[in-house]
Amino acid sequence: MHLKQEQQERGHRPAKRVITFGTFDVLHVGHLRLLERASQLGDALIVGVSSDALNYAKKSRYPVYNQNDRLSLIRSMRYVTDVFVEESLELKRDYIVQHAADVLVMGDDWAGKFDFCNDLCEVVYLGRTPSISTTEIIEVIRRA
Ligand code: CTP
Repeated sequence: MHLKQEQQERGHRPAKRVITFGTFDVLHVGHLRLLERASQLGDALIVGVSSDALNYAKKSRYPVYNQNDRLSLIRSMRYVTDVFVEESLELKRDYIVQHAADVLVMGDDWAGKFDFCNDLCEVVYLGRTPSISTTEIIEVIRRA
């Protein structure tokens, strides 16, 4: 019997699984707050960390930290249950199904853009922490 069904039949509340995605390069407090709030929406938080190749395809530059290091940093956070490599932006629905997610969390810079997943799971957009981003940090360091 499926674990969730078994828990429900035994009167237990099934574990609520939250999934989110991002590059998480040059880790900063905006990332930390997003992951903390996402974790509070359920019992387990699964994070898809975008691959180096995916970032290169999107931005024509590689992240400062390679994907193995970005995965290790995110995996080490107390809010995070598990991590995986996000290989393609087109596979959101497959990742939601593979990881049995009940909630998809995205930053509100994506507001409305993932509503097409709301037949699979709840879709929640969280407000970004103001005045900080990886891009800005890289710019500040470049200017220094
Ligand atoms: N995030 C946030 N607040 C910020 C920056 C990011 O809540 N100030 C969230 C994003 O909305 C996303 C997650 O953190 O859900 C990962 O974002 P990512 O794009 O990796 O971080 P940015 O700092 O926005 O990176 P970049 O400047 O390269 O776009």
